[in-house]
Amino acid sequence: MKYIDSHCHLNMDELAGNLGAVLRSARESNVLRLLVAGFDEPSSAKALALAKSHVAEGVFAAVGIHPHDAKTCPLGRLPENMSAWVRDERVVAIGETGLDYHYDLSPRELQRECFRQHIALAARTAKPLVVHVREAYDEALGILRENAAGKNGGVIHCFAGEWRHAVESLDLGFFVSFAGPVTFPRSTVLREVAARVPLDRLLCETDSPYLAPQPWRGKPNQPAYVSAVYETIAEVRKIPVETLAEQVWQNAARLFGWGV
Ligand code: NI
Repeated sequence: MKYIDSHCHLNMDELAGNLGAVLRSARESNVLRLLVAGFDEPSSAKALALAKSHVAEGVFAAVGIHPHDAKTCPLGRLPENMSAWVRDERVVAIGETGLDYHYDLSPRELQRECFRQHIALAARTAKPLVVHVREAYDEALGILRENAAGKNGGVIHCFAGEWRHAVESLDLGFFVSFAGPVTFPRSTVLREVAARVPLDRLLCETDSPYLAPQPWRGKPNQPAYVSAVYETIAEVRKIPVETLAEQVWQNAARLFGWGV
């Protein structure tokens, strides 16, 4: 069996400080592909550096500016480095980008403009988007639709919306990715969504070091724990976890173009 972790932050100190052990533990847990997502300029540079120096461990990068950090982009413009990074073959996606109206750490108009700039960059480079949405599903999906983001597709990462948002994401041609919260006892609605998303449009991730799944909830998360996300989703779909893992492996290869 082989797993992918479609979204993690090996570029954050919590994991980067212990990288050897984190990657070893991932490998021992059969997590053989990992996508490291950038969230600002330095962390995007770091994601790319990690992808280049850990090819054998299956590390790939996404580069982007998280909506929290949109305030670092004057007028929503992306850092100049971004267009060069995106041309690197280890960069398989643009993100994370999106809208976060829960924390509102950047002005909303700036979040929206920065998000549009990511969509434009994805269109120019024909790479998929890694989209973060919190308490802004209708608006984020509207922006994706208005800007024809479905053309190169992408993933709504750490999905936490309602079923109708999943339907709209799928209509746009996006994948839906589930993280640790799908394992939490109270996440009944989220598990229902995870049970209904078409099998060929679903991804699994940790979003580590955040959101450790049961039974590690509350502890620092790491890619090795992604198996808990797969197990929960396989259980609610009443399929063997091997079947799910194989399908997610194929899905990620199709979306990120990194080969099977
Ligand atoms: Ni993230």
